[in-house]
Amino acid sequence: MRRYSRITGTGSYLPPRRVTNADLVAELAQGGIETSDEWIVERTGIRARHFAAPDVTCSDLGLEAARKALEAAGCQPQDIDLIIVATSTPDMVFPSAACILQNKLGANGCPAFDVQAVCSGFVYALTVADAMIQTGAAKRALVVGAEVFSRILDFKDRTTCVLFGDGAGAVVLEASDTPGILASDLHADGRYVDILCVPGNVAGGAVLGDPVLKMDGQAVFKLAVGVLDKAARATLAKANLTDADIDWLIPHQANIRIMLSTAKKLKLSMDKVVVTVDQHGNTSAASIPLALDHAVRSGQVKKGETLLLEGVGGGFTWGAVLLKL
Ligand code: ACO
Repeated sequence: MRRYSRITGTGSYLPPRRVTNADLVAELAQGGIETSDEWIVERTGIRARHFAAPDVTCSDLGLEAARKALEAAGCQPQDIDLIIVATSTPDMVFPSAACILQNKLGANGCPAFDVQAVCSGFVYALTVADAMIQTGAAKRALVVGAEVFSRILDFKDRTTCVLFGDGAGAVVLEASDTPGILASDLHADGRYVDILCVPGNVAGGAVLGDPVLKMDGQAVFKLAVGVLDKAARATLAKANLTDADIDWLIPHQANIRIMLSTAKKLKLSMDKVVVTVDQHGNTSAASIPLALDHAVRSGQVKKGETLLLEGVGGGFTWGAVLLKL
């Protein structure tokens, strides 16, 4: 009998400091940077984001989300036999945020590692966990997306600093006789490294390069819209399904205009798209599990429904996971 993996619990966490567009406009004005609520809402759909306190790390946010996901799945930390954290803003260069999270959680012993695929990180991590469960390498995985993007923003660059926020989301993924995850499709194209990057590094005890986010917004927009459609279709084809079978699209929460365009290409009404970007901005690898958890807990999506998760981000990376909840 084929072995599948299935999500049995979701959780998420946003740090308490909520910064509305009006708050951000006022803060940026103090540094001589001009922006407006109207511009941000019209171009992105974002109304607020959350910023972590200075002493709060990626693994701290991930821990809160993980605890909620474990509680929802009805299991204890020691029941977990694999931890994957998707992040581009880990606590330190090494060890991984996953190892630090494992220790905070008290799930010591199982394999734990980070996946770095920027905003596609969660669909990458979910696909890896699914593969490990299918092969029998794991039975019950904790898959987390956690980010403190506020640490890598240039608050003098209004074209990027208004877009991002901090947060975390998590799922428990368990072995099952029934799906679960139906299909996934992952890609990367390293020719596009420069259109979205943080071109810094640590060497000789100093930071080399410019360790803040750089983005060619229009290039990212064009590429994102094209690849998301292709990934969605490839994933559906692998599962012998069509766009008519999708109950909910849960896309990376970067920008409402990218979501509108993706939904239109898939002939999906926006009533079938989970949108939370207005409340937390772009939280990179955390955005899909944040949106998923919100949709589950609000009763928007229900057990047995077919969900298409889609991520796209720096690398350039992109991918989709089709699953039955
Ligand atoms: N406030 C006010 N004005 C601004 C701001 C701001 N925060 N930022 C830029 N502007 C101005 C620009 O200076 C420019 O003014 P000008 O015409 O006088 O020169 C004008 O607005 C238009 O600038 P553009 O960069 O052309 O704006 P655009 O319509 O492309 O919108 C945006 C920018 C929102 C970033 C868009 O390109 C986009 O959505 N790109 C997708 C990128 C994205 O979502 N990235 C998220 C990370 S990647 C990911 O997660 C996949």
